[in-house]
Amino acid sequence: MNIQIIEIPKIKEPRGNLSVIEKDIIPFEMNRVYYLYDVPSGSERGGHAHKNLKQFLIALSGSFNVILNDGKEEKVITLNKPNEGLLINPGIWRELNNFSSGSVCLVIASAVYDEADYIRDFDKFKLYSKNH
Ligand code: TYD
Repeated sequence: MNIQIIEIPKIKEPRGNLSVIEKDIIPFEMNRVYYLYDVPSGSERGGHAHKNLKQFLIALSGSFNVILNDGKEEKVITLNKPNEGLLINPGIWRELNNFSSGSVCLVIASAVYDEADYIRDFDKFKLYSKNH
């Protein structure tokens, strides 16, 4: 599956940790950052794929699961480290669930928001992934 876990450098000090995401860490040009927070317990996010968008997800705080499906196989990744990110390339259906209380999901994206880039219907996604 066209995903990758990428370690984010950590500067560890007795005063606390500091992690930095510089442009060479992420294999695409960053054009948007957004974050999910105050996610109620039991809530699910995602439920779509992207045609062109690349995204890099980080659990800045707490933990959540990312369920990935490329039309062939399914994978579940738990994100729970602020110094680890998940790269999701285009053409992968994702669902996010199991958010811990107070968790924050930071998303770095390769393009600005474009609803036309979304596939929000799983049957349409399966067709799309067969043909791409
Ligand atoms: P969506 O991408 O479906 O959220 P998630 O995948 O986290 O469940 O977006 C939810 C709503 O927010 C939808 O109405 C589109 C809007 N939105 C923006 O306006 N700009 C953005 O950058 C994002 C990510 C979403």
